[in-house]
Amino acid sequence: MKFFIDTANLDQIKEANELGILDGVTTNPSLMAKEGITGRINIQNHYRSICAIVDGDVSAEVISTDFDGIVEEGKILADLASNIVVKVPMIKDGIKALNWFKDHGIRTNCTLIFSTGQAILAAKAGATYMSPFIGRIDDTNWDGMTLIKEISEVYTLQGFDTQILAASIRSARHIVEAAKAGAHVVTCPLSAILGLLYHPLTDLGLEKFLQDHRKANPED
Ligand code: G3P
Repeated sequence: MKFFIDTANLDQIKEANELGILDGVTTNPSLMAKEGITGRINIQNHYRSICAIVDGDVSAEVISTDFDGIVEEGKILADLASNIVVKVPMIKDGIKALNWFKDHGIRTNCTLIFSTGQAILAAKAGATYMSPFIGRIDDTNWDGMTLIKEISEVYTLQGFDTQILAASIRSARHIVEAAKAGAHVVTCPLSAILGLLYHPLTDLGLEKFLQDHRKANPED
């Protein structure tokens, strides 16, 4: 399973990358705005900075919602670096654009997926990745992981090669559940990735090992 970090914050991307377990980055317009990155040129430069930190895929989202606009924006984004993946919303013109990008060798991430029907359409349109939003489904009192499981079953049955990128991950537990449900990729905030590290028995065990070592080796 691949690990992406879901942020536009360069320090957090560097911190995750230094762990040696990072396979890529996802961003969206809200995450770019959160970092105060505004204006076309600044946004493009920011994507270049992210791509200079990580070797893996970096999702860069289009703002346009019409076919011509999505294609024009996507071409510009894809030209910024070889590891850019163009992120396209699950809308009618987005589906047409996904097909166009596939035919022109540009990799894509179809975003804002909330149903298996949308996941099937994204796969048919040739998306490289498609992103079901787990946390936002949970927010509405449904179960985001049930969606991942159903998409995973359908993709396996039908032999679709679009990768399931579990997004809107909010916790370390979500990462484990997404892995069990068959997600190929999880994209998470740094806090969820670091959350995987912690277990109280690990802390207690390490403290005891170090205590015993100090007792047996007072000179250390
Ligand atoms: O990858 C999508 C993600 O950024 C959305 O997360 O927490 O805003 O639902 P959230």
